[in-house]
Amino acid sequence: MQIAIDGPAGAGKSTIARMLARELGYVYIDTGAMYRALTWKAIKNNIELNNSQALYELARETKIQFTNPSGDQRVICDGEDVTEAIRSPLINASVSLVAAKAEVRKVMVAKQQQMAKFESVVMDGRDIGEQVLPDADYKFFITASLPERARRRIAELQSQGYEVKPAEVEKEIQARDQMDCERSVGALKTLPDSIVIDTSLLNTEQLLGKMLDIIGEKKHVL
Ligand code: DC
Repeated sequence: MQIAIDGPAGAGKSTIARMLARELGYVYIDTGAMYRALTWKAIKNNIELNNSQALYELARETKIQFTNPSGDQRVICDGEDVTEAIRSPLINASVSLVAAKAEVRKVMVAKQQQMAKFESVVMDGRDIGEQVLPDADYKFFITASLPERARRRIAELQSQGYEVKPAEVEKEIQARDQMDCERSVGALKTLPDSIVIDTSLLNTEQLLGKMLDIIGEKKHVL
């Protein structure tokens, strides 16, 4: 079974994908974390983020793993736990540049397809339904209004101890949306078979119930 979840930044994809995977006993694969880990490594190695060739080579040689896939998942990049480091404002502001590179995406998509080959997965990202798992059993497109997504991102950053300027967070999300939607490969978009859910007025329990209903697991009734 393959469940694809796409949508813009801050829509609550990863929270719901993680919960859904736990509920169904599937493996959760956070593809955004993979682009983030690669960006983290590129910055650490002083690689110019416009250098497609260097980023392509870096993507090929970098090993990204998820440990404890059904519990408190950790992101491991070449053996180093980067779970917290990849959520920093610097990575937030840089990752779309790296993710926009066609060469990088080719390598990452292949890695993601490999991860989904032998297990049932819930995978979230931007191009999952279209590029990574085009034959997914369910393709959810999870979205929310820009102010609501900014509000959630601000709360997340504050809970991690970052000082944030709300207007800047909203601007940064908007800029990231634009880059993610307008790039020439793997752009974020709804598909003819997308199941679109706006989560602006839903809490996670309501959203989980809705998705489980759609999947046919009537365990949670709203
Ligand atoms: O979901 P996220 O905010 O962790 O994603 C980080 C960045 O990676 C975001 O700018 C979009 C990009 N991304 C992508 O291009 N393709 C994916 N499958 C997942 C994320």
